[in-house]
Amino acid sequence: MKNIQIALDGPAGAGKSTIAKQLAAQLDYVYIDTGAMYRAITLAALEQNLNLEDGQALGELMKSLDLRLTPGDQGQRVFIGEREVTEAIRTNEVTNNVSFVARQAEVRTALVVAQRKLAERGGIVMDGRDIGTVVLPNAELKVFLTASVEERASRRHRENIARGMDSDLPSLQADIALRDKRDSERTVSPLKQAEDAIYLDTTEMNIDQVVTRLTELVEGVLQ
Ligand code: CDP
Ligand code: CDP
Repeated sequence: MKNIQIALDGPAGAGKSTIAKQLAAQLDYVYIDTGAMYRAITLAALEQNLNLEDGQALGELMKSLDLRLTPGDQGQRVFIGEREVTEAIRTNEVTNNVSFVARQAEVRTALVVAQRKLAERGGIVMDGRDIGTVVLPNAELKVFLTASVEERASRRHRENIARGMDSDLPSLQADIALRDKRDSERTVSPLKQAEDAIYLDTTEMNIDQVVTRLTELVEGVLQ
């Protein structure tokens, strides 16, 4: 079987990581969650009290940061040096600050190099915001996954409740809308659909239906 590159982009809560994980397992491909990389840098910057809009300082931080992604049973695990930060990068504090870090050119340039290296041999499902447009412009399959903001917020809300976390639906929806706006309006590599990406609105689709649709798309490419 050909080892292709699959790029999944879209706004928060569209189902990218859930779908990418299942698709990668099905195809025996590697799954890379690029959002986790931006989140890990945000965590480190917050811990070091850096100014999150100071691209130069963040660039310096990244040089000293030994960021590693490894596959795990539940999906991708994230390490800074020996310290596992898989859970620590999911706090509200990181979530609400990550778009500031992600709009710094110094940060993006370095991460794009690392992401391309991870994908160079194919056999990869990579999710993010700029995978089809910037990171892997030649990916054999690009999908832009979305859903209404109301649906995306309620998905996240259900997920928080299931995890035993506090969750307030109206503020969650406002936070998601604000993060999408920041991600879409930034100058460097904004969130947008690649011209050759397939648009998939999953508002009315459950996880199995989305995975089935993507499997069909992959089969179409592999034929
Ligand atoms: O899982 P969720 O959709 O909440 O977000 P994520 O995929 O973990 O990404 C967190 C943030 O990282 C996004 O809101 C973007 O600001 C940034 N990001 C990015 O700029 N480019 C990427 N390729 C991936 C994430
Ligand atoms: O990675 P992204 O932010 O795009 O979304 P996710 O973390 O994969 O999905 C957010 C939540 O929505 C998860 O709890 C998924 O189980 C759920 N989901 C859903 O209910 N229906 C879908 N079609 C896709 C995801």
